[in-house]
Parts: sequence; C-alpha cells; structure tokens
Amino acid sequence: MKRLELVDSPYLVREAKVCEARQMTKSERYLKIVLKDAHDLDHEPGQFVMVSIAGVGEAPISICSSPTKEGYFELVVRNVGKVTSAIHKLEAGDTVGIRGPFGRGFPVRILEGNDLLFVAGGLGIVPLRSLVDFVIDNRRDFGRVNILLGCRTPQDILFRDEVALWEKRIDVNFSCTVDRADPEWKGHVGVITSLIPGVDLDPDRTFAVVVGPPIMYKFVIKELLKKGIPEKQIIVSLERHMKCGVGKCGHCQIADYYCCQDGPVFSYDEIKENIEAL
Ligand SMILES: Cc1cc2nc3c(=O)[nH]c(=O)nc-3n(C[C@H](O)[C@H](O)[C@H](O)COP(=O)(O)OP(=O)(O)OC[C@H]3O[C@@H](n4cnc5c(N)ncnc54)[C@H](O)[C@@H]3O)c2cc1C
Ligand code: FES
Repeated sequence: MKRLELVDSPYLVREAKVCEARQMTKSERYLKIVLKDAHDLDHEPGQFVMVSIAGVGEAPISICSSPTKEGYFELVVRNVGKVTSAIHKLEAGDTVGIRGPFGRGFPVRILEGNDLLFVAGGLGIVPLRSLVDFVIDNRRDFGRVNILLGCRTPQDILFRDEVALWEKRIDVNFSCTVDRADPEWKGHVGVITSLIPGVDLDPDRTFAVVVGPPIMYKFVIKELLKKGIPEKQIIVSLERHMKCGVGKCGHCQIADYYCCQDGPVFSYDEIKENIEAL
C-alpha cells in the first residue's frame, strides 16, 4: 500500500519559533517568527499563514513582512477571541504551528513599472506593509508611490517608527488621517476617503491597492473610480472566516471564489458584484 506522503501536504503543521514578541497597542501584538525546517517561508506579499496553538485552534493571519527580509517573517495579531488571545500569550522562545503560505498575494509583476496608490485603513496596514516594504526594497522597479493611512486615533497607528520613515522619504508621498485627534495630533482629521481627492495621479498608470475594514471598501472604491482609475487597476485584499485555508471546506466562499485560494487579493472588477456584501 502506498504510504501517505505528508511532507508537501498543505495540512502539515510546521514547527516554528517565536524569536521576538511585543505588544504594539492594547489589542495588537507583534511576532517575529523563524521556521525550524527552512530558512525562509517563501511567500509573496499579501499571502497569509494559518497559525496554530496546540490544544486551542488555528487562525489565518497575514504575513506582514516583505519576502525581501530573509530568515524570518512577521505577524501582527489583534486579540478578538479564542485563538488570537492564545497567540497574544506567546513570548520569545515559544513554539507555534504554521501552515502555508497560502492564497493569491498582490500581483507584484503586474504592478512593476506602474504608479502605486496604497490605501490602508486600521489593521489593513498589516497585510499592506508586506507590499509597501517590498516596493521600497525594489524602489526602482516602480513609478510614483502614494501611501494613505487612516486610523481611529493617533494611538492606533501601527508601525509608528516605520511610518515616520515613509513620511521622510523623498520618493514616497505619505499622508495620514485619524478619525479622532488628541491634543498632540498636528495632522489631518477625517475619514480616509477625504484624502483621496487631493492625491495627484495619472489614472491610466496608477494601481490602487486597498486594504481595510469591510465598511471602507465601498466608499474608497467610489472615490478611486471618480479619480478615473480603471476597475482592473483597483486591487483589494479581503477577509472571510476560514477553516482549511486551501479551497476544500467552503467556509470562505464569496460568490464563485474561495477567498483562501482565489484571494485574499482580488481586483475590483473580479468582485464588484459582491462589494455590497463585503
Ligand atoms: C486572509 C486573512 C488574513 C487575516 N490576517 C489577520 C492579521 O494579520 N491579523 C489579525 O489580527 N487578524 C487577521 N485575520 C483575522 C483573524 O483570522 C481572526 O481574527 C481570527 O481567526 C479570530 O480567531 P479567534 O479564535 O481569536 O476568534 P473567535 O473566537 O473565532 O471569534 C471572535 C470574533 O471574531 C470574529 N471573526 C473570526 N474570524 C473572523 C474573520 N476572518 N473575519 C471577521 N471576523 C472574524 C468572530 O465572528 C467573532 O465575533 C485575518 C483573516 C483572514 C481571513
Ligand atoms: S477556508 Fe476552506 S475553502 Fe477557504
């Protein structure tokens, strides 16, 4: 009888070690992870992994580091329930289970040579950071870069040090807005859509990459279409409840697509019929 070969199975949980763990905000925790069986995860920007905690369960989490950073990968996890609260208890030196990388990431080869407009709302900066860092590490391969970041309050801004560096770069236009300011905040106040009309762009050669909470997509996409960006050039990354992560269980279905396998990254023209249901 043929022996069941698990080595390449998408269900195989790989052992990994947390080499750095720290609280970023009250509800978000940063983890730097190394695999025990390989030097690199071999992922594309925008893909995700299934993170498992023995005896608790498994959750899909976006890889927030660029593949240009070798020997480790990074995650940011918001504590919302059973698995994510167990992930929040992880400290440096602990072991964690990893499956993946899974899903269709951002279309890096298609983006090359074009201008980019990144639109990140809240936790959307987490998956988007894998692409922003990839673009910055390969800056000559891309045209103009605009980054728009929207957060509820100044305290909710993740990756503050890196965001400050993006702001200083002369080859990146960066704008940030918060819904509610505090007395120290000197920047823009308002929802993220309010930043879009002021962006100077050539719609024919601009790809917009949008990641944020479900409510954001409809309004941001409306503004991007008003700017004349073609539907095919609006890229979104979506979230759905997931179980298998590999297109087998049907938990993550959006119309004819499985979010885990056909996505999580889609172009607007692929999913526009379903945008109201997001
Ligand atoms: C492709 C993908 C990438 C993701 N990347 C990240 C990431 O980088 N960082 C991060 O913190 N989270 C991310 N998530 C969300 C994360 O997977 C869920 O928060 C997690 O599975 C919740 O598990 P739990 O056991 O802690 O919560 P549960 O106890 O199962 O649920 C707690 C609450 O969260 C809701 N919930 C659970 N899963 C989802 C979901 N997928 N979408 C919306 N609501 C959900 C439940 O309905 C419930 O209200 C991602 C999800 C997907 C599909
Ligand atoms: S999570 Fe099972 S089909 Fe997508």
